[in-house]
Amino acid sequence: MPYAEVNDTRLHIRQNGSGAVALFIHGFPLDSTMWIEQLADLGDVRRCIAPDLRGFGRSAPVTGAPLTMERHAEDLAAVLDLVSAEQADVIGLSMGGYVALAFADSYPDRVRSLALIDTRAGADAPEAKAGRDAMAVRLLDEGRASIADAMDTGLLSPDSGIAVRARLRSMIESCPYETIVGALAGMRDRPDRTAVLRAVSVPAAVIVGEQDAVTPPAEAELMAAAFQDATLTVVPGAGHMTPIEQPVAVNEVLRTLFARTAGATA
Ligand code: MLT
Repeated sequence: MPYAEVNDTRLHIRQNGSGAVALFIHGFPLDSTMWIEQLADLGDVRRCIAPDLRGFGRSAPVTGAPLTMERHAEDLAAVLDLVSAEQADVIGLSMGGYVALAFADSYPDRVRSLALIDTRAGADAPEAKAGRDAMAVRLLDEGRASIADAMDTGLLSPDSGIAVRARLRSMIESCPYETIVGALAGMRDRPDRTAVLRAVSVPAAVIVGEQDAVTPPAEAELMAAAFQDATLTVVPGAGHMTPIEQPVAVNEVLRTLFARTAGATA
């Protein structure tokens, strides 16, 4: 199933493993290749599914409309329907975390466990909203390289190697302009979902890079405290891209989280 027709679009989907489904949701402006180490390692305990969200990666292009977190959540529910999975372990990084929370908000019974990585539950503050609009203008004036430059220095730990930097840059520079503009609007307008954290009763894990400057450890602490049943892991040697900066540490937390969902079946 490298491609799936869902709702009115076509999504590209990467997967590995068998059994109960784990759904990996990438960040902005990235794609499913950010999860390659998780898919490779965790296939023995889960059917790991990592879609390119609508408009991203190798999924069909989008035009015009904002790419809302709710729209992505609807697409992901349709992906689960396609693979006959009633539930999934839902894992989201950054924007993927916003989507994961929108999913948990709309489909609470479909979440077996929830992992939020380098993300936040709150809405954008007014200055962050203005920053989204400024980024869209800069993108169109100066090209994707301007975003890649900012993210290279702003997203990664200074310890990140050349391969991690190259990988991040490839993802950013291959993301379509219309997707970036649509996603910036969708993230700008997303609501505060702190109440969703409190409503989640399934096992949860919050993971954050110790040097994450975008969604810092203080945000992660707030989220972990709001959940009913969450672990908090602060990962040394990682910035905002913990799954690609420190995949072994992330995989270990996910493996432990999955083990807490005793008796999970497909
Ligand atoms: C991401 O990594 O997905 C973005 O940094 C999220 C954001 O801009 O809020």
